[in-house]
Amino acid sequence: MKQVISVVNLKGGVGKTTSAVNIAACLGEIGKSVLLIDLDPQGSASLSLGVENSGEELLFALKNETPLPVMPIAITGVELVPSGMSLATGQMTLTGEESNNALTSCLEQTLGDWDYVIIDCPPSYGTLTINALIASTRIVVPVEASFLGLNGLKQMVTAIDSLRPQNPGLKIEAILPCRAHRRRRIHWDIMDSFNSMFPGKVSPIIRENVSLAAAPGMGKPVIYTDRLSKGADDYRFVTLWLDDRLTVTEEVVVEHSGFVFSTFK
Ligand SMILES: Nc1ncnc2c1ncn2[C@@H]1O[C@H](COP(=O)(O)OP(=O)(O)O)[C@@H](O)[C@H]1O
Ligand SMILES: [Mg+2]
Repeated sequence: MKQVISVVNLKGGVGKTTSAVNIAACLGEIGKSVLLIDLDPQGSASLSLGVENSGEELLFALKNETPLPVMPIAITGVELVPSGMSLATGQMTLTGEESNNALTSCLEQTLGDWDYVIIDCPPSYGTLTINALIASTRIVVPVEASFLGLNGLKQMVTAIDSLRPQNPGLKIEAILPCRAHRRRRIHWDIMDSFNSMFPGKVSPIIRENVSLAAAPGMGKPVIYTDRLSKGADDYRFVTLWLDDRLTVTEEVVVEHSGFVFSTFK
C-alpha cells in the first residue's frame, strides 16, 4: 500500500463522503487501484455506491475476528469496505490499548496491494476517526469556505497534533475547499486564510454543483452519472493534483550505447 489517506473533518456536511467517493473513482479512472473504506456508521459512502450494509463484518474485522471485508464494486479500479449502523453501537466494544490500532492491524493483515487506500471518516473525534488517523500516511481535509469552516479546520489541526505521538509521520496533504461559490466575497476572504494557514497545501476548489448532489441517489460517482459536469471536471482536476503530489518521482539512471541518461519515473 503506497498511501493511506483519511478524508476527515470533525464537521458534518462539508463534502467528506462526496470527496472520498469521487476521488476514489477518479483515481480508478486514471489507472490506479484503490480501496475505499467507509468508516462512517451512517454508511454514506457505501450508499453512494449503491451498497447497503449492516457494518457487522467491518466491526468483526476491527475486533480482529475476521479479515477486512473487501468487496468488488462496479467502479473501475475501486474496491470497497462497506459500513453500516452496527458500527455505531459496536465501536463502544472496541476497548483496550490496542483498540486505536485496530484498523492499522487490519490493513497490515490484508493481502491487497492498492496504490491508494482512502478512508471516509465520520464527523466526530471518536474511536473510529482515531483509528483512521493512526492508520494513515496522509490527510485530506474537505472544508467549506465559511467562517465556521475555518474554525472547524483549526479544531482539526489540534486533533491531529494530539495524535502525533502515535503516528509521527502523519501529514496534512491537502485542504480541499468544497461546495465553493467563487462569486461570493467571503469565499476569497476565507481562501486567503486557508492559504496563509497552509501555504502550498490548498487544493483546486470543488464548486457547488447539482450533479454532485444527485449522484449518490444513483449509486455511482459523478464521473459515471454526469461525466461532463462541473463536478466531474473538478474532482478529476483535484485527483490529478493529488496524485501528482503523492506519486514519488524516482530518478532512474539508464546506460545505453555508452551514453548515460538520467530520467524520472
Ligand atoms: N460540491 C458539491 N455540490 C453540491 N452538493 C454537494 C457538494 N459536495 C457535497 N454535496 C452534498 O452535500 C451533502 C453533504 O455532503 P457529504 O459529502 O455527505 O458531507 P460529509 O461527508 O462531510 O458529511 C450531500 O448531500 C452531498 O451530496
Ligand atoms: Mg460523510
